[in-house]
Amino acid sequence: MKRTLIMQALAMTEPQNTITVCGWVRTRRDAKEFSFIELNDGSCLANIQCIVDADTPAFAGMGEANTGAGLRVTGQLVPSPGKGQQWEIRASSIEVYGLADQESFPLQKKRHSDEFLRSIAHLRPRTNKYGAAFRIRAEAARAVHDYFYGQGFHYVHTPILTGSDCEGAGEMFRVTNLPAGETAVEKDFFGKAANLTVSGQLEAEALAMGLGRVYTFGPTFRAENSNTPRHAAEFWMIEPEMAFADLHDLMDLGEGLTCFVVKQVLERCAQDIALFNNFVDKGLCQRLNALLAKPFARVAYREAVAILQQCGKKFEYPVSFGTDLQTEHERYLAEEHFKQPVMVYDYPKSIKAFYMRMNDDNETVAAVDVLVPGIGELIGGSQREERMDVLVQRITELGQNPEDYWWYLDLRRYGSVPHAGFGLGFERLLMLLTGISNIRDVIPFPRTPGNIEF
Ligand code: 4AD
Ligand code: MG
Repeated sequence: MKRTLIMQALAMTEPQNTITVCGWVRTRRDAKEFSFIELNDGSCLANIQCIVDADTPAFAGMGEANTGAGLRVTGQLVPSPGKGQQWEIRASSIEVYGLADQESFPLQKKRHSDEFLRSIAHLRPRTNKYGAAFRIRAEAARAVHDYFYGQGFHYVHTPILTGSDCEGAGEMFRVTNLPAGETAVEKDFFGKAANLTVSGQLEAEALAMGLGRVYTFGPTFRAENSNTPRHAAEFWMIEPEMAFADLHDLMDLGEGLTCFVVKQVLERCAQDIALFNNFVDKGLCQRLNALLAKPFARVAYREAVAILQQCGKKFEYPVSFGTDLQTEHERYLAEEHFKQPVMVYDYPKSIKAFYMRMNDDNETVAAVDVLVPGIGELIGGSQREERMDVLVQRITELGQNPEDYWWYLDLRRYGSVPHAGFGLGFERLLMLLTGISNIRDVIPFPRTPGNIEF
């Protein structure tokens, strides 16, 4: 079937004698002699207006079609006398694919609460807001691939089922096919405990030691029972890993990636971004442009703690050297103190993972978190410990068994080189890009504690 996307139809430079578009009816208005249909096909935010004269076969074909119905419309593309649109379609024939019952179809009303729309996650892609959010999601993913491609990175796929715990935080979802009541792990499918991955980092490191520069972009899973607007049990993470790189190279990469994606989405999704700027977060465009305007701030953790201690603001959690920064601290730094994204580096070893490279002070590790206004932590990463003896000591100190990491240690045993990598939470990036304040609204079918309906 030959059809034109509404996005393409609206961008035509000349009238067309016949054109066919398909889509879902957003609204239908009936006048005496004709009906107006606003049709949307998801290719872009805008609808195309179709005029259906009452005495045409198109009118008969349209029948009872109303909000929500799926149609095919053929007709003439002509200049529109209406405001805000260049073209409209004078329908000559209409075929109804599927009607939508006007009594029960939930998207009749123009405005629904985010909470209600979450309960109909299977229908919300048909709203302006969620259509825009998921188009931006697609474009942002493309921008991520474009950026890495331009920097000589190879896209790699790391396993989702895994036998190792990258973060050592005990937040994994167990995977098993043992019958109920059976607990012997030797009898399980893999003969040892298996989990959904919390991070592809360890495997990405192995790949970087052969391919040089790699990145993963895939789903990760965390069973942290934190019901916050920034945590999901299933989220997508972008994890670059670079051989022959240190912490400063890594900070450049994090800043470069973030700015590239913001810039490309601003350019390619202008209509969708405008919707968020107008209806969701009036400061959005200004904030995104400010982010691009100057280099990100960089501050050592020790100094960040001093800033927080001296700022005179009352925090729920007090800070001192050795405490993990809470969202309230991260947001204070990014929103009130620096008023821009800030990279905090050299964290105390006591609050970070075993694989981070020990600094010469023996107290801090070469870690970096990128904190952004409105969200807090967007990126977490580090230079990796490439020295065998130090790494073994760290694993042991943290109560783990180095033998469990034999293959990871092999990477240090054979041709070990300085390397660094990070994880960027893709949904958090989308929150930054859209101004959407709840992670449940940037992922089509969110998984959070107690929620797995779809
Ligand atoms: O800081 P995290 O835990 O780092 C790692 O997992 C490293 N192994 C990554 C690496 O170095 N390759 O997570 C990285 C990022 C966070 O900064 C945050 O943006 C996001 O992943 N993130 C989450 N996003 C949504 N829901 C959750 N539950 C998240 N947990 C982390
Ligand atoms: Mg982190």
